[in-house]
Amino acid sequence: MIAIGADHGGYEMKEQIKSYLLEKGIEVKDFGTYSNDSVDYPDYAVYVCKSIQSKESDLGILICGTGEGIGIAANKHKGIRCAICSETFSAKMARVHNDANVIAFGARVIGIETAKEIVDAFLSNEFEGDRHIRRVSKITEIEQGER
Ligand code: RB5
Repeated sequence: MIAIGADHGGYEMKEQIKSYLLEKGIEVKDFGTYSNDSVDYPDYAVYVCKSIQSKESDLGILICGTGEGIGIAANKHKGIRCAICSETFSAKMARVHNDANVIAFGARVIGIETAKEIVDAFLSNEFEGDRHIRRVSKITEIEQGER
């Protein structure tokens, strides 16, 4: 299951990405927002991140105007590693090296075709493990106040 959420800045792109994933047969849980009305991006980061924390969803996609606010909010959640990406190489490497479980991008920054490519790169790659386990574990230690 892929959790998706956006504020008003990302609403239309969220709808397009949701349709794109559903057409591919990927299960999507849409946490809103559901219109162009102004909302607060941290709320949608919370919905998506809680869905991952509870293991209801495997990975998450967050969209706001820039990807920055919603990505920063996501990274305040335990166990969430959110990569804010505007191109595909970082989206791929965020999975492969950083074991990112959420991707964020900005609907006012990139176009829909780039967004689709970023989503594809993110969803089609796996964490490589190996030496990266040690590094990601250190991130978890920071989160737990152990560093
Ligand atoms: C909303 O206007 C905008 O601030 C938001 O979508 C996002 O870009 C924040 O980081």
